[in-house]
This record gives sequence, structure tokens and C-alpha cells, in this order.
Amino acid sequence: MPISLRDVEADDVERLFQWRNEPEVDRWMYSVPPTLEEHRAWFSAFLADPDRKGWIILRNGEPCGSLTLEGLIAPQRRAKWGWYIGDAEARGRGAGRAAQALGLDQAFGPFGLQKVWSEIRAENETALKAQAWAGFRREGYLRRHAFKHGQFRDVALMSILKEEWQARRPVVVKELLASGLVAQAQGH
Ligand SMILES: CC(C)(COP(=O)(O)OP(=O)(O)OC[C@H]1O[C@@H](n2cnc3c(N)ncnc32)[C@H](O)[C@@H]1OP(=O)(O)O)[C@@H](O)C(=O)NCCC(=O)NCCS
Repeated sequence: MPISLRDVEADDVERLFQWRNEPEVDRWMYSVPPTLEEHRAWFSAFLADPDRKGWIILRNGEPCGSLTLEGLIAPQRRAKWGWYIGDAEARGRGAGRAAQALGLDQAFGPFGLQKVWSEIRAENETALKAQAWAGFRREGYLRRHAFKHGQFRDVALMSILKEEWQARRPVVVKELLASGLVAQAQGH
């Protein structure tokens, strides 16, 4: 089941709306589900923003999720990571991990970043394990940081530096190649 990335396109607007509102995706978001109108406004701004970049995660060539980086034009050369597998069928089968490796290659390669960071809800074990597997470290813990549906939630602050990814990458790529999650050409 090879995983690849392609750029987000204008035609993805409804697909992303549907995925954003999937219960398992919405569950881990800070915000409540947007209306279609709100989503369209957000998406137009996203596409026009040089500070942000989005990819669609493909599984066997079929869209299954989204990956974003935010903070691309700041002089600090760090960006915030966001990703989800919107297609419930594709979750828990390695697509998120494979997409993570491909996204980190983009971040530390063509985008010239030094650091990628993320905020992950403290109970989101699947996401935290996937990030740790790629070499992300926990650099902070934000208590009662998110508020949704009347409840405060703790958040883990995760990050990975360029040289940490370079050190970890061979192990990650080997595992992804062995499980057929990335094609040979992407593994080099
Ligand atoms: C977090 C998320 C992106 C991870 O992506 P994913 O594709 O589901 O994750 P993976 O499949 O790579 O890993 C999940 C589990 O599947 C297992 N797995 C990985 N490859 C596998 C394979 N080839 N076959 C079977 N299982 C596999 C992993 O070992 C992992 O198990 P573990 O958590 O018990 O260690 C995804 O689950 C998701 O979108 N969740 C909802 C939204 C979200 O939490 N987004 C991130 C925070 S905002």
C-alpha cells in the first residue's frame, strides 16, 4: 500500500471539509467543526498564504488524508506540523507514519527548515506514538491548553530538529520499505 504526497489543490475543498468533520478527526481538533461556508473561507486563505503548505496523503494513489506545515516564511526556519488520516479505512495501517516521513523529508529538504513542531492532545496516544517513532521529542506539556465542548484539555508540545530527523531517517525508511509503505524511489 504505497503512500505518497501531492500538493493540495482547489478541488480538494469538499474532501477536506468531509474529513475535518469525521468524528475521529474532529475529536482531536481544538476547534468545533466549521460550517461549509467557514471551511471555504479558511481554505481560500490557506491556498493563498505563502506561510502555509498543504499536501494530500495518497494511499495507492487515492486521497486518504492531509498534511500541513505552517510558519514557512518566518526567519526562524521552523514550522508547525498538522496531519490526519481522514479516510477511516486507512487509519491504523501505517499511512500516517509513512506520510510523516515524506513530510519531514519535504520540511528539512526543499523547505529548508531547522525544526518542525506540533501540538498534540495529551490523550492522543496514536499520534504521540507515531511522532515518537519518527524521532519527535516532547519538549513541553501545556496544561489545560485546549478547550472544547466545555472541557479543558492538556496538550503535549512535540518537536524534531533537522539533524534528529537525519539521524533517525535511515531506520524509519528501512521499516517503511520493508512494510511496502513507501516505494523504493522515495526511500533513497
Ligand atoms: C494520528 C494519525 C495521523 C496517525 O496515522 P495512522 O495512519 O492512523 O497511524 P499509523 O497507522 O501509522 O500508526 C497507528 C498504529 O498502526 C500501526 N501500524 C503501522 N503500520 C502498520 C501496518 N502496516 N499494518 C498494521 N498496523 C500498522 C502502528 O504500529 C500504530 O500502532 P500503535 O499506535 O499501537 O503503535 C491518524 O490516526 C489520525 O488521523 N488520527 C485522527 C486525527 C489525529 O489525531 N491527527 C493528529 C493530531 S491533530
